[in-house]
Amino acid sequence: MKKISSLVVGALCGACVMAAQAASEDIEIMHWWTSGGEAKALDELKSRLKGAGYRWKDMAVEGGGGDKAMETLQARVSRGQPPEAAQMNGASIQSWGRQKALANLDAVAKEQQWESQIPAVVTRGLKVDGHFVAAPFNIHRANWLWINRDAFVKYAGRTPETWDQFFVMADRMKTAGILPIAHGSQPWQNFALFETVLLGVGGVDTYRRALIALDNEAIQSPKVEEALKVFRRLKSYTDGAAANDRNWNAATAMVVNNKAAMQFMGDWAKGEFFAAGKAADRDFLCIAPPGTQRSFLFIVDSFAVFKKGADEATAAQKTLARLIMTPSFQQAFNLAKGSVPLSANVDMAKFDVCGQQSSAYFVATSMVDTLVPSVAFHMALPVEQETALKNLVSEFWSNDAMPVAEAVRRIQRIRAIGTKDQH
Ligand code: GAL
Repeated sequence: MKKISSLVVGALCGACVMAAQAASEDIEIMHWWTSGGEAKALDELKSRLKGAGYRWKDMAVEGGGGDKAMETLQARVSRGQPPEAAQMNGASIQSWGRQKALANLDAVAKEQQWESQIPAVVTRGLKVDGHFVAAPFNIHRANWLWINRDAFVKYAGRTPETWDQFFVMADRMKTAGILPIAHGSQPWQNFALFETVLLGVGGVDTYRRALIALDNEAIQSPKVEEALKVFRRLKSYTDGAAANDRNWNAATAMVVNNKAAMQFMGDWAKGEFFAAGKAADRDFLCIAPPGTQRSFLFIVDSFAVFKKGADEATAAQKTLARLIMTPSFQQAFNLAKGSVPLSANVDMAKFDVCGQQSSAYFVATSMVDTLVPSVAFHMALPVEQETALKNLVSEFWSNDAMPVAEAVRRIQRIRAIGTKDQH
């Protein structure tokens, strides 16, 4: 009896010591989730981490899409002070991983059976040299068009399936005095719109060849030219100069508050509608932009963990990764974030119609090979090429005098840009 109780006490004491150690431990996390919906989703993780005995040290870098965050991270790592974990998407994970900066999460992946839980197209991006270095939150779909329901009922008539139909609808809205498209002209938002248009106009094959392989022949195809023209035409349905430097969530707020009818944006926009108390179908509609109905531009949000001495992740980093892949967290986080969970054990019944559609389309498009990674959100190209594309497409957006042929010529040159590792 004495032996048993001392064993129990020993075990309890062990737990106490661990808890005491953990309680004093900060875990610093860099991320760009600062909008209303994003922050709400992230709170789910903060409170769970607190429950596990860790203190969340926030390193939030504002700027949707994460371009600024990636620059800040580069500076921190160069000073030899990486945070414990950082929000990162596919291509950035590979780049930091190749520089041997990331720690190994294989033990957690094995324990939670990530390989069988997560689709292979996702696990590939989370591993470097065969080892897991990042924990994934979700799948986001970038090709969505959000429509204010009242505006749709009053002016739209029917859901547009082609760009021509889209422009007819947008013209009707314009005539009725409502701004058709809410947009922010930041380079990443401009480029995110362009890649969606290119996918819609050119289809998956042109998207892959022209934007991911940067293949000369594909870039010169009439599809790219047409996409640039559609993209330029869309600008006349925005509020022009007023859109300069507008954040994506401010643009979403315009649709939420009946100041504009629509926004092209990934499904994190849904998080803003929810945070404002709006419901899918009742207050807003989600449709795939013209031509992209049968394809899926995907993004996986994840936190990569930096090496803190040893190759293996620390106990704090492992706890963080474990929490991220826990089914109850995946459900709560993604309900607020607007994305769909990765863990196979999440019940989708609680999700809205857009989320359910996204989840079904993710599976269907991966089966018919129309699931493509987003270039705008760091899922496909080395950072130097991605940045050059964003800058060029943005210049084209703001300079109406730039001939389409010049933009095509300059896209062709991007392939030659060095691909040495940088962030
Ligand atoms: C993306 C990220 C999303 C979203 C968006 C806007 O890069 O994958 O989760 O929040 O930026 O900040």
